[in-house]
Amino acid sequence: MLVAGNWKMFKGPTETARFLDELEVPAGVEVVLCPPFTSLAEATGRGIAVFAQNVHWAAEGAFTGEISVGMLLELGVEGALVGHSERRHHFGETDETVRLRCEHALESGLRVIACVGETEAEREAGRTAEVLTRQVAAIPQHEHLVIAYEPVWAIGTGKTATPEMAEEAHALIKGLHDTQVLYGGSVKPENAAELLGQPAVDGALVGGASLDPASLAAICHAAVS
Ligand code: 13P
Repeated sequence: MLVAGNWKMFKGPTETARFLDELEVPAGVEVVLCPPFTSLAEATGRGIAVFAQNVHWAAEGAFTGEISVGMLLELGVEGALVGHSERRHHFGETDETVRLRCEHALESGLRVIACVGETEAEREAGRTAEVLTRQVAAIPQHEHLVIAYEPVWAIGTGKTATPEMAEEAHALIKGLHDTQVLYGGSVKPENAAELLGQPAVDGALVGGASLDPASLAAICHAAVS
C-alpha cells in the first residue's frame, strides 16, 4: 500500500521539518511526501521517500520556472508527480508534455506518479472512460511508474468518488496499463478505509489531509487495517 501526500503550495522548510518530527508511519505502508521545491532538501534523508511535484524533460536549458531530474537527484529526491490536474488546468500541461516528463524522468532514474482524471462536465456527459483512456495512453509503462486516478470534481471539494466509482475507474485503468493505481480526491481519515478497501485501489494520493501529520498517519493506519 502506498500513501502519497501532495502538499501543493503549502509548507516551507521550517514547517516541513516540524511535520517530519511529528509524523509516525505504521508498518506495511510506504509513505511518499511531495513538498514544494524549496522544501525538498529539508524533507530528504529522513527515511521517507520524497517526490517533487513536477519535473522537466530536458537535462538543463532555458526553461524558466522548471526543474530538472539532475537537480532533484542531487537533493536525494526519489521521484516526481507528473500531470496533476492543477498542472493540466492552470498551467497548460497536455497529454504530450505529460508523456515527455514521464519518459525522461523514468529514463533518468526517478520514480513517477502520473495523474489522470475526468472533470465534472466530462463525467456528466458520460465521457469518463474516453477521457481516462486518452490520458492513460500517453503514459509510458514502466516498473517505477504508478498512476493516480484523481477525479477533478473530487479534488479539494470535499466530494469523494464512491468506492464503486473509484473501483470502476481503477479497473478500467488497470485494463489499459499494467500498474498500481492510487485514488486521490478528498481522501480523509474518515473515508480512507472504505476507498482503500476496494480491490483495484492500491493506495492514495492525498492533498489537504496530508498537511497534518496525525491525519496522514490516520490514513496510513486505515490503509493497513
Ligand atoms: P485533496 O485531497 O485536497 O482533495 O487533493 C487531492 C489531490 O489533488 C492530491 O494530489
